[in-house]
Amino acid sequence: MLEKLILDTRSYRRFYQEVDVKTDQLNKLIDYARMGGSARNAQPLKYMILNKAEDNARMFPFLGWAGYLAEWKGPEEGERPSAYIICLLDTSLSTEGDCDLGIATQNIMLGATEMGLGGCRIASFSPEIRNEFSIPSHLQILLVLALGKPKEIVVVEKLDADSDIKYWRTHDQVHHVPKRSLGEIIVRKSVENSN
Ligand SMILES: Cc1cc2nc3c(=O)[nH]c(=O)nc-3n(C[C@H](O)[C@H](O)[C@H](O)COP(=O)(O)O)c2cc1C
Repeated sequence: MLEKLILDTRSYRRFYQEVDVKTDQLNKLIDYARMGGSARNAQPLKYMILNKAEDNARMFPFLGWAGYLAEWKGPEEGERPSAYIICLLDTSLSTEGDCDLGIATQNIMLGATEMGLGGCRIASFSPEIRNEFSIPSHLQILLVLALGKPKEIVVVEKLDADSDIKYWRTHDQVHHVPKRSLGEIIVRKSVENSN
């Protein structure tokens, strides 16, 4: 069950835009984020929710999608996210939040999958988001999470040690994402000194 949830929690970039993501759902996902571990238990992460069509339209132009798919400029109108969570670091509480961010956003992504939703972390965003959404200066923008009901199939592929890490799309629009093997990422202890 946990394994299926983890495997299904992929990065999705095309959505049924007409399916709303409700504020209650977003609050629940942020509640999952809140329960994640935090260095020094400082809990410096804050979140801004967007899920109204007009706000989503304001956010979309500031985001960079799937850098490896050079020909693709991001989801078309009709396949765009129904919600966003802007992940913020409250610098009055801590100057470092990257580990917390990974934990928090994975909780959100797992929770989204369980709700029949999906999303994508977007680190490629314009700093103009700050002005557009009047984000105060003590809140550093770390990441934007795009969310919606996924409208694409994502398949995990085997990545050999010498092959390309780039994801790709086939003509049927299936998204393929290569992952390193377990054998490659487990570092073996060197043979103990027999003396
Ligand atoms: C910290 C972080 C930043 C990312 N930024 C972007 C981004 O700016 N644009 C994008 O389309 N995908 C982004 N992604 C999604 C990755 O491309 C994706 O995680 C990777 O291809 C592996 O696919 P998977 O999430 O389905 O395992 C980001 C992922 C992470 C973890």
